[in-house]
Order: sequence, then C-alpha cells, then structure tokens
Amino acid sequence: MQNLNELNEKIASIKQEILDNADALKSSRSVYECRKTFLDSKKGKIGQLMKEMRNIPNDQKADFGKAVNAAKEWAGQFFDELDEKLKAEEQKLRYESEKIDISMPAMRTRYGNLHPITTVRNQLTDIFASMGFSVYEGTEIEKDYYNFTALNTPQDHPARDMQDTFYLSPEFLLRTQTSAGQIHVMESQKPPIKIISPGKVFRSDDDATHSPMFSQMEGLVVDEGITLCDLKGMLDLFVKQIFGENTTTRLRPSYFPFTEPSVEVDVSCFQCGGQGCRLCKGTGWIEVLGAGVVNKKVLENCGIDSERYSGFAFGLGLERIAMLKYGINNIKLLFESDLRVLDQIDD
Ligand code: DAH
Repeated sequence: MQNLNELNEKIASIKQEILDNADALKSSRSVYECRKTFLDSKKGKIGQLMKEMRNIPNDQKADFGKAVNAAKEWAGQFFDELDEKLKAEEQKLRYESEKIDISMPAMRTRYGNLHPITTVRNQLTDIFASMGFSVYEGTEIEKDYYNFTALNTPQDHPARDMQDTFYLSPEFLLRTQTSAGQIHVMESQKPPIKIISPGKVFRSDDDATHSPMFSQMEGLVVDEGITLCDLKGMLDLFVKQIFGENTTTRLRPSYFPFTEPSVEVDVSCFQCGGQGCRLCKGTGWIEVLGAGVVNKKVLENCGIDSERYSGFAFGLGLERIAMLKYGINNIKLLFESDLRVLDQIDD
C-alpha cells in the first residue's frame, strides 16, 4: 500500500466484507470468531493495516492512522451491537426452554422405611434406655478370650460346640455372641453396671431360621444384691412393651457357661393369648431369649468381687424378635432386601 487513497479503498472493501458476513452470524459465539478475523491486533484484517504505515509518505501518516482507527471503531461497534442483539435472543430462547410449569402436579416421592431389624433394635434400645440401660457397642472381630474363655468357656469346654465359630486365627474370630461385650464392660467399668450391647454376630449356621450373620442384643446388670427376681421383674416389664400389655414370661432351667443358674425365657403367645396356635406350636408359649445370674467365675475373670457383687445377663436374637413380631417365617426374607417384603413392614 502506498497512499491514503489505496487505504480508503481497502477499508471500504473490508467494511463491505463485514456487512456481507453479518447475515450468516447467528450466534454470539460466531460473532466472537468473526470479530477476531477482522480486529485481532496481529492477524485481523483491520489490525494488520497498521503494519502498512511504514510504506506511507510521512505527511500522510497521521491521516492514515486516524482512518485505520476509525475503521476499527466502526467494526468494534458493529460487532458489539450484533453481539448484544444475538445474546438477547439467545437468553430469550433459554428462558423459554427452561420455563417451569408450576401448575403441573408434582411427581410422587417414594419414602423408604427402616429395615425391620433396625426398627426392632431401635425399639428395644428405647425400652431399655427408659429403664436406665446405656449402650455399649463392641467389635465384630473379637479375641477368643472375650468371646469364650473369659465367659467361662475355655478351649476344651464342650459348650464351644454350641456355636460353630468362624476363626480368623487361633487368637481372633468373628464374635459368635454379643456376650463378649460383657467382659469388655466389666473390665473397664466398676459396678453398678447396666448396659445393653446390640450388634451383629456370626456362626457357621444356615437354614430357614438361622443365618451365618445375625443380630443380637446383650444385657448386663451388676450391682450389690442383684438376683434372678430382678431379672424376672425386668423381663416382665420388657415383654409387655414389646409384645403387648397382656404378655407374661415363664422361666425354664437351661445351661449357659457364663450364667448360673441359667434360664430360657418364654413369653405367653401374643397371637392366641396362650390358648395354643400355629405360632406357638400349640404350647401357648414362645421362647425369646436366654438369661441367667452372672457366673461368679465371669465376675472374677473381670476383677469384680463376687462376694460383694452379683448380676444378671440376657441375650436375645433381633431377627427372631422381628420374625415373631411381623409374622416372617424365613430369616432369609430379612436379608434379601426385597422391597415387596420390606414395604409391608412399616412400624
Ligand atoms: N450368648 C447366648 C447365645 O448366643 C445368649 C445368652 C444366654 C446371653 C444367656 C446371655 C445369657 O447373656 O445370660 O446363645
């Protein structure tokens, strides 16, 4: 380029080119791209015009600069206006597409409910808490010592056969009973002690009423002068709250290594009121838990003076209570997470 005339012609043709291109620009993004091809200071068609300055005679340089700047300003304003117009249109379209019909009926929300075992565990915990028990949660991996030996069930004790144990090593196992928690509590607390200990337990056992993993709740009370009568009184109160006002209890002699004497606790059948029905197999009674007076040897294993203190303990299976309460006849239904089953149980 040699002079102003040539520049003016060039500017006119660039302007025409911009105007010709404008029709095809339908989005603010394309305006942005197009603006760059003309106004980018290095590569833009107008931006590059300044480079021609060195070929222009000195007396025309000032006018040349002015003309280029005016062209820049014109193009900048042109693109700004186009951009503003397209952005407004785009926003309008977005508002249209995101419009919410607030008069439309809402989608129905499906509420879940607690698993029956959780419900039973919560109910039992509430009942015992109202009697002054606090909750101790032990661990699922336990030392053989806590699960058996300290509970008066040493290595060669025949009672070990009552429970098929998953051993992890000679020293560690998956606890077979929440009774293990008794020992931890008695080792770390001084009487009076009044705790429940809910949790999962594990046994190699699998049929319609047994599962390799199930849940228990242990109870332990240790103080001066605690007797089997205290146990019976507490159980009577407890079963009325869980199975109904008219429920009573019956104790039958039994055997557990960690209690002496030991009892099996039956409740009067809450379905037939004791007449005899299918649920109680015609006997009028349903077995619900094991219990007894804490064996002196167990107290002593934990460093508690068995002359001064005595206690009672009990252990119940949460699945069993849930099956009785909700009329479930196969324990597997409690572990399959089938919503057709779980939806029917909402307590
Ligand atoms: N641990 C026993 C079991 O799993 C249940 C049990 C029975 C717990 C008597 C006790 C008890 O605390 O006194 O079969």
